[in-house]
Amino acid sequence: MKKIRKICCIGAGYVGGPTMAVIADKCPHLEINVVDINKNRIKAWNDNDLSKLPIFEPGLEEIIKKRRNQNLFFSTQVEDQIKNADMIFISVNTPTKTHGIGAGFASDLRWIESCARQIAKYAEGHTIIVEKSTLPVRTAEKIKSILDLSLKGNKPKNANLQFSVLSNPEFLAEGTAIDDLINPDRILIGGDDMEAIKLLEDIYSNWIDKNKILKTNIWSSELSKLIANAFLAQRISSINSVSALCEKTGANVIEVSRAIGMDSRIGNKFLNAGPGFGGSCFKKDILNLIYICEFYGLKEVAKYWKSVLDINYWQQNRISSLIIDKLFGTISGKKISIFGFAFKSNTNDTRESPAINICKNFLNEGCELLIYDPKVNEKEIASELGKNEKNVDPNIGNWHKFYTIEDSVKNADAIVILTEWEEFKNIKWDLISELMRKPAWVFDTRNICKKEEITKSDINFWQVGISDKES
Ligand code: UDX
Ligand code: UDX
Repeated sequence: MKKIRKICCIGAGYVGGPTMAVIADKCPHLEINVVDINKNRIKAWNDNDLSKLPIFEPGLEEIIKKRRNQNLFFSTQVEDQIKNADMIFISVNTPTKTHGIGAGFASDLRWIESCARQIAKYAEGHTIIVEKSTLPVRTAEKIKSILDLSLKGNKPKNANLQFSVLSNPEFLAEGTAIDDLINPDRILIGGDDMEAIKLLEDIYSNWIDKNKILKTNIWSSELSKLIANAFLAQRISSINSVSALCEKTGANVIEVSRAIGMDSRIGNKFLNAGPGFGGSCFKKDILNLIYICEFYGLKEVAKYWKSVLDINYWQQNRISSLIIDKLFGTISGKKISIFGFAFKSNTNDTRESPAINICKNFLNEGCELLIYDPKVNEKEIASELGKNEKNVDPNIGNWHKFYTIEDSVKNADAIVILTEWEEFKNIKWDLISELMRKPAWVFDTRNICKKEEITKSDINFWQVGISDKES
């Protein structure tokens, strides 16, 4: 039977980087080469200053320190590493298409296809290809046909060239990626080549209990990843819809979440109301699901999943309008502090962050945003909100990034908490109150603050999902 010694991972992003770091740590007998076409990203992965790694994940620095240049290597040598590899993971991005058929919904598979073509050209011997990227159902089939076509024109020196394609979706969540990789709920492997499945299973068995390794056919595996994300997003839209109802009726969404979450059939996770879900996966995967349903003529099913996205936009816009309303119906020329720009805590990732839409809503009303986030840098904010030019049209509003909480609240009329960073839970509100213009407001869209501490500091307080009468 074939032996796996060398692994190549194409794509050194949020998925490829941490996943390979953990495999390298748990399997010191394997050599792992993570390759990427983005030179700057690879340079950052190789930086001696570990605080410059391209992504922030608790626990990642320690593993990189231990394994980098031992059995974990980052480079741009895509072709060489494909040639050397016994197993190749594909972890490139699959964004929503912006042009052509399916634009706005379908996944753009151009990078997946280009990976398949590169593998077809450079691989040697029996090579196992593992889809890590979240992909539309039946993508493995496309990869396999590109690879099989290449076999037909095969030169004699490569006569033993052979490909197996497996689906092995990654379920890690950002901010807890390392822990999720070390202690996953399950590992899903889809495919029909029993030998290839066994070889991949053997890698995971180095640290994961065999009964957590689930084997399915390849289409179930691809679809399960889309559906897991769709179900998680659906729970958030459900609880966010309930948050609005709680605010109207006098119920408290925290109490409702707790009460329903204790029902073991419902479970207590993913029931926190908030400003709407963000992140690179939920929206993209639901759009993709909608596209697949429509492709197969399942219009009602497509409509059902679309409503999950509709509620998500609605919640962001509802919260924006409500804040403007509380600030006497106008925020033109006012200062609003934004606490948190990342789509969740413990990550520097801003992709699809609810902060983007909410900040844009405020900027369109001509206010000045004072943004504080412990991990998101100014360049990242600029790529979402546009440059913060000095002399902008006062009707359009402007933003500034600050490096301390205190600096970001000077003369502010309101603070809007958008990310649940730990440090926002321990703020000395009486000190903050002195720095703000009155009447001052705190809008807590994550329900992380203690009401009494804020109101006793002479600041008005609003919380998502809790009626004014109560808060
Ligand atoms: C991506 C997908 O978005 C997600 O759906 C999937 O589950 C895993 O891969 P992520 O790792 O967060 O998630 O993406 P990203 O951080 O953008 O990393 C992808 C990397 O692939 C980038 O660094 C990009 O430069 C690289 N890439 C892309 C290649 O090396 N080669 C290519 O042809 C295309
Ligand atoms: C998600 C999936 O959890 C993961 O399995 C998959 O591999 C990738 O997509 P991620 O996007 O990194 O992971 O983070 P997640 O913790 O799922 O949070 C997504 C969004 O939902 C965040 O904006 C978060 O703040 C929000 N959320 C989550 C809520 O608003 N309420 C909750 O109760 C939970």
